[in-house]
Amino acid sequence: MLQGPVEISGAKNASLPELAASLLTTEEVVLERVPRVKDVETMLELLLELGAEVHTGEKIRIRAQEIGGEPREELFSAMRASVLILGPLLARSGMGEILWPGGCSIGKRPIDFHLDALKKMGAEIQQEGSRIKARAKRLKGERIRFPRITVTGTENIMMAATLAKGETLIENPAREPEVKDLALLLQKMGAEIGWEKDGLHIEGKESLGGAQHRVIPDRIEAGTFLVIGALSSSFLLLKNVYPGHLTAVFQKAKEAGVDFDIGENWIEVRGGSSFRSLILETEEYPGFPTDMQAQMMVLLCFAEGESRIKENIFPERFRHAYELKKMGADVEILQGKAIIRNVRKLKGTTVKATDLRASASLVIAGLVAEGKTVIEDIFHLKRGYEDFFGKLRKIGAEIREE
Ligand code: EPZ
Repeated sequence: MLQGPVEISGAKNASLPELAASLLTTEEVVLERVPRVKDVETMLELLLELGAEVHTGEKIRIRAQEIGGEPREELFSAMRASVLILGPLLARSGMGEILWPGGCSIGKRPIDFHLDALKKMGAEIQQEGSRIKARAKRLKGERIRFPRITVTGTENIMMAATLAKGETLIENPAREPEVKDLALLLQKMGAEIGWEKDGLHIEGKESLGGAQHRVIPDRIEAGTFLVIGALSSSFLLLKNVYPGHLTAVFQKAKEAGVDFDIGENWIEVRGGSSFRSLILETEEYPGFPTDMQAQMMVLLCFAEGESRIKENIFPERFRHAYELKKMGADVEILQGKAIIRNVRKLKGTTVKATDLRASASLVIAGLVAEGKTVIEDIFHLKRGYEDFFGKLRKIGAEIREE
């Protein structure tokens, strides 16, 4: 049985836009608690190849004094979040160029909302093959309503709007903690941003300055270890957590019978309880996060009765279910929906990781399954979890990479 403390790292999905935000100023931006994960490395390489000075150490220091240069194509295909440099580049230098970002196996990952909003703000956007070129003498503030809530779409437009002429109102902004944390950094850099009832207001400025900022903890990593603790530990103490970011996850964990306590910046979770089936729907924040759906599916395999998951954000985000079935899970997939029935156990076998959170769900299943599990393509996991195997070994897991 696993047991002990787990240090939760900084949030990948706050770090990525915040690194991109350094392009908005010629001064130095210093970020603390940025997790050392593959996607962050990719973003740092993108910034370097755009001409920024990058120093990594305890803190990450970036100064984009001059920008220009064409980053290697593979940096764009490696990470969808590469789209996040477009808004800042356009706002800062009047031009930006990206490649159609790499898809992920959780479904097609379009960026039409980003491009349509930038066009509305005055950008000219040409597409040549998979290359997207954007130009704008100076973006102008606009009223933006996305066809549906988009996390990186909100982040891209928010960053672009900080240097646009006039005010931008995003009527239906994403309200994830990572979006709020980016807004906080931008305000420290001198941006004028207000979260109002009618949406997110950004008053464009002539320029922004540098800032120092500590990234929020990763709520999805915390949620992942909450499920690990519930299934395979006597107890785990999760440290450096913002419980306020996990309300929907706590509510569903409680409903499923997970035994845990919450402190000011920690969670103590105890294993050994029996689990109850439930109905789960993924929604934009503050609803249940799609990035916790795969992890929760493993727990529901052990819940009495029949559970249902409705995936409203990425309806194809069920590839992990087919791998779990190889381990003996009883899961039926319909369009955008999963039905999970109780099984007594899962059996170790060879499975394949398909995306970041699916990889985590297969590790969770492997920890609780009978016998040895081999997970192929585990590189997906390293895109978003810092030292995941080290953290698991520290609490007693038998896990190794070959
Ligand atoms: C962000 O992706 C996260 N990535 C994802 O985390 C997360 O799953 C997702 O938000 C939802 O919470 C980062 O923050 C780097 P969206 P994003 O735009 O911004 C559709 C992880 O595991 N859409 O909010 O790409 C889209 O297809 C990753 O860390 C368009 O149609 O997601 C989806 O159905 C995986 N056109 C919905 O909107 C667009 O231009 C929401 O997507 C943009 C989005």
